[in-house]
Amino acid sequence: MHSIDMDLVEMTLDVMKYAIDRISNVTPDLGAPRKEEDLMRIVGETVTPDGIGGEAAFKLFRDVLVKATVPIDHPRHLAFVPAAPTRAAIMFDLVTSASSIHGAYWMEGGGGIFCENQAMKWLVSLTGMPNGTFGVFTSGGTAANLSAIVAAREEWRNKNADHIGHKGLMITSDAAHSSVQAMAKVIDADMLMIHCEGDNLTGKELQATINQLEEKDRKRLFAVVATGGTTNAGIIDELDTIADVCEKENVWFHIDCAYGGGALAAKSVRHLFTGIERADSVTIDPHKWLFSPYDCGAVIYKNMELAKNAHSQKGSYLEIFKDEGAHGFNPSEYQIQLTRRVRGMPLWFSLAMHGTDKYRVAIERGIELAQIAAKKIEDRPYLELVRPPSLSVVLYRRKGWTPDQYREWTYKNHRDGVALVTPTKWKTNGEFETVSRFCFINPDTTEKDIDVILDTME
Ligand SMILES: Cc1ncc(COP(=O)(O)O)c(C=O)c1O
Repeated sequence: MHSIDMDLVEMTLDVMKYAIDRISNVTPDLGAPRKEEDLMRIVGETVTPDGIGGEAAFKLFRDVLVKATVPIDHPRHLAFVPAAPTRAAIMFDLVTSASSIHGAYWMEGGGGIFCENQAMKWLVSLTGMPNGTFGVFTSGGTAANLSAIVAAREEWRNKNADHIGHKGLMITSDAAHSSVQAMAKVIDADMLMIHCEGDNLTGKELQATINQLEEKDRKRLFAVVATGGTTNAGIIDELDTIADVCEKENVWFHIDCAYGGGALAAKSVRHLFTGIERADSVTIDPHKWLFSPYDCGAVIYKNMELAKNAHSQKGSYLEIFKDEGAHGFNPSEYQIQLTRRVRGMPLWFSLAMHGTDKYRVAIERGIELAQIAAKKIEDRPYLELVRPPSLSVVLYRRKGWTPDQYREWTYKNHRDGVALVTPTKWKTNGEFETVSRFCFINPDTTEKDIDVILDTME
């Protein structure tokens, strides 16, 4: 298994050939899931005492199993938050694995962590946060949000011993991503959701909500989470006025820009994020709008020491890493994970190869595609915009359709290999309505792709 022989050479060539073919295929088939029992019937048991051999296992993956997945970078995959990793980043993901780097501590991972930190420096510069701000790459937005709120909760308890033993309280809007509420559950904090009825959360609404808290709840409030690009509609909360309230009330201000963070690099919309520079922590997912392969999130802190106080693990076996001789930046001290992949390396390589200007252009294209799609929707009498596009998200309705028709249309387009576009819900005048939604990330999506999808709704 660990020796170098002909089987290894053949397997390596198979893998390299597959990787080259895959990244040079701009329109991979839009795969679809199959029932587990169907896959089992075709593939059979693959893990056996003697092994089935690299060639056979690889053939099963290439010919059957990968076809039961949806290529998230397909130009007509416009559902959820798609992805479009650069080819440079994908190839360097292979290099990252091949290099076997432990990304927890500088002592072992220094050269790789250096690469990550170069990429992180650029991310931090996009936020405009003050000197001393820095961050680390995580497995995604959920882990980044969790790392940030743990840091916030620890700081709240450290600053006042009365808070120890009490359950914390957080405030966010009902448009925040589900992971924010889920992570509050993980740390056993209560969550108060401000209802925003289709609009962004403002400082005024936040202040009114805080003013209504009972004294005992006000004492439990330790963090506010705003969103810089909601998943459903691309809406950015009023970050500047929320920052005013957080400063006045002395609560931690976290901004979840997991989806929208890439747009910080886009001049056309950068002004919408004014106030982000005043955050205590920010989440950005490079695996969404910064063209990194899965998985790569990032958490950024204004005060790294507070993050370190919350996350640094202690153990006699870890002391050497923090010794003088091992000196350097230790990513594991600033987020929830110890052993970690240096998952910022693919982003670094792609940034180093292409330069940041090409990133700005590719992100602007997503915003432009949303505007183009909106125009095409307005030009078709059977369609209607639900609201103007925000960032790269477009919500629109097919006049007269029921929720079932949206669902059947999604399944049919997926089955026919045309596109994956899924419905969502939007509240208008107090009522939830099923509507259709585009989220553009991939700069290879064409205007023709949009026409093809919209024509299937006629
Ligand atoms: C705004 C926002 N926050 C958090 C997440 C969760 O990120 P991840 O899936 O990388 O954990 C998402 C995912 O779509 C998101 O859009």
